[in-house]
Amino acid sequence: MDKLVIRGGEPLLGTVRVSGAKNAALPCMAAALLTDEPVILENIPQVRDIQTTRNLLAAMGAEVELGYGRAHHRTTIHCQNLASPEASYELVKTMRASTLVLGPLVARCGRARVSLPGGCAIGQRPIDLHIKGLELLGAKITQDHGYVEATATRLRGAEIAFDKITVTGTEDLLMAATLADGETILQNAAREPEVADLAALLNKMGAKIQGAGTATIRIKGVAKLKGAKHRIIPDRIEAGTFLIAGALTGGDLNIAGCDPTHLVAILSKLKETGVKTKSTATSVRVMGDNPFAACDISTEEYPGFPTDMQAQFMALATQAEGTSIVTENIFENRFMHAQELVRMGANIKIEGRRAVVRGKTPLSAAAVLASDLRASASLVLAALVADGETIIDRVYHIDRGYEKIEEKLKGVGAQIRRIGNMLP
Ligand code: EPZ
Repeated sequence: MDKLVIRGGEPLLGTVRVSGAKNAALPCMAAALLTDEPVILENIPQVRDIQTTRNLLAAMGAEVELGYGRAHHRTTIHCQNLASPEASYELVKTMRASTLVLGPLVARCGRARVSLPGGCAIGQRPIDLHIKGLELLGAKITQDHGYVEATATRLRGAEIAFDKITVTGTEDLLMAATLADGETILQNAAREPEVADLAALLNKMGAKIQGAGTATIRIKGVAKLKGAKHRIIPDRIEAGTFLIAGALTGGDLNIAGCDPTHLVAILSKLKETGVKTKSTATSVRVMGDNPFAACDISTEEYPGFPTDMQAQFMALATQAEGTSIVTENIFENRFMHAQELVRMGANIKIEGRRAVVRGKTPLSAAAVLASDLRASASLVLAALVADGETIIDRVYHIDRGYEKIEEKLKGVGAQIRRIGNMLP
């Protein structure tokens, strides 16, 4: 099991380039199931979850080419013959976003058998809203032996109002509705940029979608979708993570190839702490040359402050002057990074959905354990300013969503290296 070894104290200086958004690439890869023609996706991040999705689609009978040549990060997915429209527990347990194949499979093949994802470190992660929406579209759903089975001769359009805002729930049903008979209206839909990116691909494939990126999405079903070529949007969470890295280390870091319009909530919180940033249309420069003040965050659905940036912001708050209140409203158990930060010297008290962070406290290096994707990012950030050499174990968590993180950080001055399992 790989570890990351990080010696803190170096300000990050220079330019780091953001990869494509994992959480846009995953639904876009699933969308290829909706057509028997090839779908080409560019700017695919080289992360573990993409490999898992490739394996998932290939197991169904799709032909999936995945190339990370110097010139491009591209995948071509051709779902001509889907022999077995299934997603096995073996694959789904490693990546719950596998449930994104449910809607496309029912719409394309008339049936799907997908393992229930089960919980994960950050929470229960139910998919009841996905299932309820598919039933409203006319699918017959049964659940047994840990699998959900859905069948439908042809889905029919319906009005679906989500009880809670769900990102992959919106994406799953958006994809299913493209081939349904008649019009579907999704109310209380997720407004994340990744939803809009998926809709952009689907419309290139011949779907008729309006309103993606807003709370109400209208889809006019069509009989068939065709192949298309699409470039995935930049990863706003990776960009936000590097913004905090630049601020924390007192560096001067240019985050290139990002979309600042996706970072408004993050940039406004950084401004509130006193961190200086400067944006162009495709980059943000962060200058951490002055002390920064505490400020409160409360995670909300987009365009609010993203839950996927909560752990990273908490690392920043440990170095801010004053008390920051971090409230996590989306997931029930997303403070696992807090105890590891406390072991490094942070002063954090958890009270239910709130964490009270008192700064500034010097951090000292320690052997720490990554527990989930964004918690790992938080530990990397803390290690960048801790005194001494921090060893982070179970970094496979971070490899799920950050492409070559040690190379990118080393490229801007961090003292970081990856070590393989030292056991014989
Ligand atoms: C997506 O997960 C992201 N993953 C997550 O990113 C992100 O944290 C999350 O949205 C929130 O922004 C992908 O896009 C692949 P939800 P998702 O459905 O869709 C409840 C990362 O770090 N809910 O929006 O699974 C759920 O329990 C990952 O990249 C139901 O109750 O999240 C949660 O409390 C982590 N029933 C809330 O809604 C359902 O059927 C939001 O979950 C579905 C969700």
